[in-house]
Amino acid sequence: MTWNSRTPNTMFRRLPVEQATGQLYGGRHRLRVVYRTRDLVVLGLGVMVGAGIFKISMVQAAANAGPAVILSFLIAGGVCLLAALAYAELSSIVPVAGSAYSFSYVAFGEVWAWVVGWSLILELLLAASVVARAWSLYAAQVVADFGVPVPDWLGEVIGQPKGFDVFALGILLLLVLLLATGSRLGLRTLWLMVMAKLLVIGLVIGVGLTHFDSGNLTPFVPPARPASGDGGQSVLDALVGAVTGGSPQVFGVWGILAAAPAIAFAYIGFDLIATASEETDDAPRKVPRGIITSLAVAVVLYLGVAVTMVGMVSAQRLDPDKVVLTTPFTMVGADSMGKIINIGAVIALTTVILVVLISLTRVVFSMSRDGLLPRGLASMSRFRVPSRATLAAGGAAVVMSQTIDVLTLEQMVVIGTLFAFLFGCAAVLRLRRDQPDLHRPFRMPAAPLTAVLGIVAIIWLMLNLKVETWAYFGAWMLAGLLLYLAYGRRGSELRALLDRPVPQRPVAAALAAPPPDLARMTGPPPGSRPISTVPPGTPGVPPYQPERFPAGGGARPWTPRIQQPQYPDYPPERPTGPQAHPTPPEGLPYQRPPQQQYPPQDRPRRDHPPQPPYHGGRHRR
Ligand code: ALA
Repeated sequence: MTWNSRTPNTMFRRLPVEQATGQLYGGRHRLRVVYRTRDLVVLGLGVMVGAGIFKISMVQAAANAGPAVILSFLIAGGVCLLAALAYAELSSIVPVAGSAYSFSYVAFGEVWAWVVGWSLILELLLAASVVARAWSLYAAQVVADFGVPVPDWLGEVIGQPKGFDVFALGILLLLVLLLATGSRLGLRTLWLMVMAKLLVIGLVIGVGLTHFDSGNLTPFVPPARPASGDGGQSVLDALVGAVTGGSPQVFGVWGILAAAPAIAFAYIGFDLIATASEETDDAPRKVPRGIITSLAVAVVLYLGVAVTMVGMVSAQRLDPDKVVLTTPFTMVGADSMGKIINIGAVIALTTVILVVLISLTRVVFSMSRDGLLPRGLASMSRFRVPSRATLAAGGAAVVMSQTIDVLTLEQMVVIGTLFAFLFGCAAVLRLRRDQPDLHRPFRMPAAPLTAVLGIVAIIWLMLNLKVETWAYFGAWMLAGLLLYLAYGRRGSELRALLDRPVPQRPVAAALAAPPPDLARMTGPPPGSRPISTVPPGTPGVPPYQPERFPAGGGARPWTPRIQQPQYPDYPPERPTGPQAHPTPPEGLPYQRPPQQQYPPQDRPRRDHPPQPPYHGGRHRR
């Protein structure tokens, strides 16, 4: 297709839910269905319990909050819970691989979806690189712990914080190749590794509590003191400084709040469960459960570790630049725990990289399937996985980990994640307002209040990130917008969809023909084709209810109420909305509606038969 002035502008067009989920045209779901709820919880813990738990509680206690870091964990956990509830609602509506990218496409439109997708790519690319670097540091420590002889030349290229590093390169390449070849090793290995790391965390808490001294918890909130300024100013500090002339402080109440965004890094991962939606059996119900359960377990684990650590040694004795999880054990003389913790860290970080790479691949896959990235990346390989997307995304992570000092960019992961969370909460508000009739197997409790609270809290956390983080993030987003204007906008599948003739299916035809005067409409659109073959007055069939529209058109899109017609030559549409779950008439026992017969390409299956290679998109041009 060539670009010309009559080509529809899809920048602000929203993707219909039916299109996002493949219900209207079918055939979008191509990933194998492999996950159950418990797999999703393991996936979530696989990514949440990682570098953060092995370091952050002690670092933040020493640098910002003292023993009150426990409160910081609670605050960060609370904010993440709000985002998790929003993600749970959205993934019950749009259970597809793109996560926040797809939610934004449906709620806000293409350019916003791109912005969120681009920010997810930043989050995941950097997370994979940062954690691979941390993996290398721990792996080198394990090698040293066990006295494995290492030649000098190798010693210089393992466990390095920056520059060429064989361990970081090796672990990334290994996992990328495993994923690209569709290794079934993945899920079973993930289970084993997550269980192993939970065992180590259990040991850390159990052994740590035997050295617990409540005296180390006082003062619980150390008095505020001026910050050294080495770590860079947060945006909030800069704003407050500009208004009041004061200088940044650490500890005290502000310290507790300042520690929360760094801690958000530790909770990152529950959001990635949403990217597994397309590979989950009965995703609209299981994904929300997986998201919330895994976050709840992670909050308990993190609080357990934080309480144990600050109870073992006084935070004032720790150097924030050097402290790791083994430090308190070394200080109390339990040296043997050091080796166990280092092994646990290597296992834990392996699962983080694995899940992050899976999610990165799924986001790239979704964006390519929508035509915003090269469509070839959405092709399925003979291993029945998106191997090209895996190799491209994994390759980028490898390059990034070897060329950039990623360990200093940890906050970029946080800002990318919080940005996506922000859109998640906002999307709940938008969809509740614009499409209130959507079927929502999970509803965010007390929304819109909780969604608004989530937005405010996330903005607050973002303001606590460093000025330089914001500057880098701005540069990344600017580059992304340019890429969108140069490439994504032109390749958009949604634009191709608007160009193509609407298929002559009764429901699609009804959707394509809004009535001429929405404001004055009091009955069925004049001259419209009947969309129901059910005669009026049939018992159990509600009478036609015209939509209420604000005078002058209003912002609400035209969504006809559709009675499913009985057309023998068309397979039925997948039910959505309230009609998918009819209320039984008064007094009658509930009877399960008969099983729908989906067309073969839409039928949810646990294990698809071999499919021909997918050539990227339904619209080959
Ligand atoms: N939450 C993940 C970790 O702590 C990113 O490593």
